[in-house]
Amino acid sequence: MEPGLRRLVVVSNRLPAALKKEGDCWKVKAGAGGLVTALAPVLKNRGGVWIGWSGASDPTLDVDGLLSNFSSEAGYDLFTVPLTREEVDGYYFGFSNEIIWPLFHDLQTRCRFAPEYWRMYLEVNFKFAEVVARKTSPDDYVWIHDYHLMHQAFFLKSMGVKRSTGFFLHIPFPPPDIFMKLPWRWKLIQALTEFDLVGFQTLQDRKNFAECLRRLVPEVRFEGRGAVISVKIGSRKFRLGAFPISIDFNQFNSMAENPEVAQKAFRIREALRHRKIILGVDRLDYTKGIPERIRSFHTLLSRYPELAGRVNFVQIAVPSREEVDEYKELRTEIEQLVGRVNGEFSFPGWVPVHYHYKSFPHDELVAYYAAADIGLVTPLRDGMNLVAKEYCASNTSEDGVLILSEFAGAAAQLQKDAYLVNPYDMEGIAKAMNRALHWDKAERREHMVGLRDQVRKNNIYWWVDSFLQAGIAKSLDDFPEVESLEYEPG
Ligand code: UDP
Ligand code: G6P
Repeated sequence: MEPGLRRLVVVSNRLPAALKKEGDCWKVKAGAGGLVTALAPVLKNRGGVWIGWSGASDPTLDVDGLLSNFSSEAGYDLFTVPLTREEVDGYYFGFSNEIIWPLFHDLQTRCRFAPEYWRMYLEVNFKFAEVVARKTSPDDYVWIHDYHLMHQAFFLKSMGVKRSTGFFLHIPFPPPDIFMKLPWRWKLIQALTEFDLVGFQTLQDRKNFAECLRRLVPEVRFEGRGAVISVKIGSRKFRLGAFPISIDFNQFNSMAENPEVAQKAFRIREALRHRKIILGVDRLDYTKGIPERIRSFHTLLSRYPELAGRVNFVQIAVPSREEVDEYKELRTEIEQLVGRVNGEFSFPGWVPVHYHYKSFPHDELVAYYAAADIGLVTPLRDGMNLVAKEYCASNTSEDGVLILSEFAGAAAQLQKDAYLVNPYDMEGIAKAMNRALHWDKAERREHMVGLRDQVRKNNIYWWVDSFLQAGIAKSLDDFPEVESLEYEPG
């Protein structure tokens, strides 16, 4: 690579490939979740760098060897940050997933504010910052992602390492009455002010952050209006912005149009005897409202008995954070609920709920999206929710209905044409499903065309360009695609 040319460096806890132990063998798997889906096409063939944790904590493992194929196929370098079992427990399962994840999703009663988690969070953030310092050069743009790594700019600065940094929070930022419960609130907010640009999913998240900042740092001043504003604290200046993340619309759209995928979609419909299909797709996570959704389907079948034998609810639940007790308990609860609905309503030739606890290959997932009459996306709270956008992009027949939680970040962009529901209101969701099942073709088309236009226009490349423009007045094209990599930083 030419000297002086900027590289895009993505830093996140999760790499696009994760190592998972199956029996005695380690396997390379695609990383789960929206962060990876969204960022993978952005970095592809950019010759950039992605720094993160491999998902393994076995010190004897040849992590780089295992990931080298993935890296050369992806067209960018992967650098891993090795973490010990103790670090994973305190920083990832502990601080990130037992404190920040529930708190920022407004579920404060699920938090365990253990001081040892905070200490480990800082130690691991320092460890990440050391790798970032070593693997990057001052010309690079260092783009840090998500709640696991909020102290990166703070530690880089404390080491005297000068980098241009941006931070994007993929999850919601809570209002002050919730954020202020965090015992380490001041240090955390102060660390976030050390980035050059801090990005949120929605204007509401940005507003929540600004209000917390105002309470904790009274001398703060805000300037400007619109999606990106400037912040001044004494002589320190940085920026805040709202950048709703998205998907590669064309990738989903063309996959759904692919004859093999279309055939798979047809087979799904055929196997379900051309009944109406209501589809839920989520990581198995308590923020996603899966039990409430199954209960809503139960209400639907109880209230509208004429739907018996005419509708199926398909729930795809991708295994996630399986070592955490709350996730194990949630799995049991969901399985019991599925059993209850099926036990109560099934008859020969009809099982109402089809439940899959596994991850699907991309083409099969798109086939499910394309086959579904209703995309039922009802998280209790979500930063964005890419499944909602993927469902629309894959609905090439323009015939589906998106039922969407008003508490998903995606609602801010999709509210005009999605059927908005309160995810806690199970009777309301049942009513919405029944109404949506009765929408006529013209109504379905009108709304789906609107949804698809929105996702097509505000796609992942639009998102990355808006962030880079605000961060360094550049767009993705300023980081040219490369065939092979020559540049090897110190
Ligand atoms: N997903 C996946 N495999 C599956 C089902 C879903 O990789 O079997 C992906 C899905 O395509 C989406 C992501 O998981 O991109 C979920 O992202 P979302 O923003 O909806 O929620 P998150 O998991 O990030 O909270
Ligand atoms: C959400 C978070 C991501 C995370 C993903 C999967 O999308 O915003 O940062 O990677 O969930 O969760 P996991 O804990 O498996 O990384």
